Amino acid sequence: MDSSKPAQVVKGVVEAAVEKVGDVLTPDVPGAPGSAPPSLDEPTAPHGPLPPKDEQGAPDTRTPTGAETGVPKIAKGQQGAYLTTANGARLRDTDHSLKAGPRGPVLLQDHHLREKIMHFDHERIPERVVHARGAGAHGVFVANGAAEKVTRAGFLKKGRETPVFVRFSTVLGSRGSADTVRDTRGFATKFYTDEGTFDLVGNNMPVFFIQDAIKFPDIIHAGKPHPDREIPQAQSAHDTFWDFVSLHTEAQHHTIWNMSDRGIPRSYRTMEGFGVHTFRLVDDAGATVLVKFHWKPKLGVHSLEWEEAQLINGIDPDFHRRDLYDAIEAGAYPEWELGIQVFPDTPEETFAGIDLLDPTKIVPEELAPVQPIGTLTLNRTPRNFFAETEQVAFHLGHLPPGIDVTNDPLLQGRLFSYLDTQLTRLGGPNFPQIPINRPHADVNDMLRDGFHQQAVHAGVAPYRPNSLDGGNPFPAGDREHAFVDVPVTVAEAPKVRAAPASFDDHFSQVRLFWTSMSPVEKEHIVRAYTFELGKCYHQAIKERQLQCLANIDPVLCEQVATGLGLPAPQPTVPLAEVQPSPALSQVGREWPADGRMVGIVVDADGDLDDVGEVRRAVFAAGMVPLLIAAHGGTVGGLPVQRTFATARSVEFDAVLLAGAPAPAPDALPARDAKAGAAGSPTVDPRVLLLVEEAWRHAKAIGAWGAGAEVLRQTGVAGSPGVVTGGSGAEALESVRRLMAAHRVWERFPASVA
Ligand code: HEM
Repeated sequence: MDSSKPAQVVKGVVEAAVEKVGDVLTPDVPGAPGSAPPSLDEPTAPHGPLPPKDEQGAPDTRTPTGAETGVPKIAKGQQGAYLTTANGARLRDTDHSLKAGPRGPVLLQDHHLREKIMHFDHERIPERVVHARGAGAHGVFVANGAAEKVTRAGFLKKGRETPVFVRFSTVLGSRGSADTVRDTRGFATKFYTDEGTFDLVGNNMPVFFIQDAIKFPDIIHAGKPHPDREIPQAQSAHDTFWDFVSLHTEAQHHTIWNMSDRGIPRSYRTMEGFGVHTFRLVDDAGATVLVKFHWKPKLGVHSLEWEEAQLINGIDPDFHRRDLYDAIEAGAYPEWELGIQVFPDTPEETFAGIDLLDPTKIVPEELAPVQPIGTLTLNRTPRNFFAETEQVAFHLGHLPPGIDVTNDPLLQGRLFSYLDTQLTRLGGPNFPQIPINRPHADVNDMLRDGFHQQAVHAGVAPYRPNSLDGGNPFPAGDREHAFVDVPVTVAEAPKVRAAPASFDDHFSQVRLFWTSMSPVEKEHIVRAYTFELGKCYHQAIKERQLQCLANIDPVLCEQVATGLGLPAPQPTVPLAEVQPSPALSQVGREWPADGRMVGIVVDADGDLDDVGEVRRAVFAAGMVPLLIAAHGGTVGGLPVQRTFATARSVEFDAVLLAGAPAPAPDALPARDAKAGAAGSPTVDPRVLLLVEEAWRHAKAIGAWGAGAEVLRQTGVAGSPGVVTGGSGAEALESVRRLMAAHRVWERFPASVA
């Protein structure tokens, strides 16, 4: 078995499990809470904590100074069979306060009560100012050695394996906001290298709204909910956002990325990632190159459909984090290739006329190909969300020897910002000692004391030079792999608050992005601008943004203006001559279907012969089958995951119809509003709605046997991406082939070329 292929891993797991149990009920779909099924009665026989779930990881059990401890990871959180106080005294009762008689009053001396309530009262810490909503996973990065020729960074040497923790996030929403809103996504990776931690703190878009970090509070204040009513949550479709980006036009490039399908990813697993800024790599001889970092998902870039995203916001606001955890649990480990675009380190710091210090610009891959330097695999979910995902603290200044920053003014401001915010968010200066942040390299700093100090420092001389501690710690040189501050020349220049003239072009690359899109992607961009501006209250803001669109492309401007009922203005700058970059489009290629969800509608009274086989084949193809039936429990001995009442098309990447079930007893508008959609169909109206929605969202739909009747009643039979097979296996195979292209885009001819 080739264990590097997630689909093969899943198939192996499936076959092993089926062989062992010989039962079509196994393996079950991912998502079970807890590592063992609960008993019906409350367990009372004392025993130690249950082991974590198989797919759960945890931070390494290192000391605050990076040394391995060998302590089992579970022992860091809890130990022993008995309930105790925080100081380890065993407790008899945690259900009643200590009282003077059963009817009280409660006694002030009840330390257990006070400790329990005091701790609970302080369970919350400030959420991140931005990127508050996120999900993380552990994994490993394996270098292929291609970067050895340009950097001395040890973790990029061929075959080196480095543990990583990745946190994905949205930017605007609060911690409890929905996952699938239109927004940029954070893609932050902590590499625990043996030369010090490297944090690559990027996004799923290669450009940023602003060129100078001093504008960050402005763009974020504009994007966040209005300060008076605190609405809307996690949205850019409101006046303050469009007010800012239409006035501060350097934001237009990032804005079109947000308005494109990139703003609504299908999954974290199907996002590209970008370091955005240009970084500087330095090799052993001191030679330097400039680079941009890219993450390329093995599953391709895949996005949601806008209506689908909106439905998911209500139906499953945890859609992305659930998808990440479920995929890892199912063994469909998400993978990305890390790549670099390499540019000569010239004094101008430009490439093909593009200013490499301007974070609102890309370098098209056709001009500078992305060269793979290693593979990231996420293979463990966190054991505890707060301890790991919430307390992780990334910082662009966490750099190992061999990687350095450039003078990009956005990057420079970020170097200040993250430490500063984490000081408040994590309650003191010692957050590098929190388990998830502990380095895997020796730490011997001279930082001392402070809130929540975990290290027990020895010695008397946390200063240099000293003789009292024997001179320790000593400065390292090249031979000891000290960090290299590359001695770049700094221009002799007057002190100014100004941007270089090369930062002035705000529209040409926006046009480049627009012209690189396929027709259906352009339709989506038109729709997104029209929707978002349509939600704005003030006409002046809409008109101002239309002016920006006119400077990008007349067709884009006209289409949006039509939707808004406003005239399309003429451009105020000459339209740029641009060479489209096909690499920017996410349509037109094929990708593996690992970890995608297939809904299978079954009729308990119909022919179920093929269903067990199809379910097994879906697992074997590396995907997850969810059976949808009139009621829960089992149908034909197969476990049902969704009923017609609980299922919604947006959970599935494809729908298979194994039958045409008659309306179930609960198909009543009074019981389930979804049942009100049709008159008196012979098929359950919720099944018809499921298929209609899946069709609207350009998903593959397959049927066999009686299932074809559902296609007939919904009127979708014969349309692109709707297939019938002589057997379940045939229908699944056709659907699987369609899923390789992510969506059935030819279902909707585009009106813009
Ligand atoms: C290229 C532009 C930027 C990118 C790609 C970016 C990316 C990110 C990411 C991925 C996170 C989430 C980290 C996590 O998961 O914990 C984050 C958080 C944050 N970013 Fe940025 N950011 C950018 C610009 C800025 C700027 C210019 C500032 C401020 C001057 C800033 C301030 C912050 C702050 C305060 C946080 C919260 C950090 C924390 O509480 O730990 N970001 N950013």
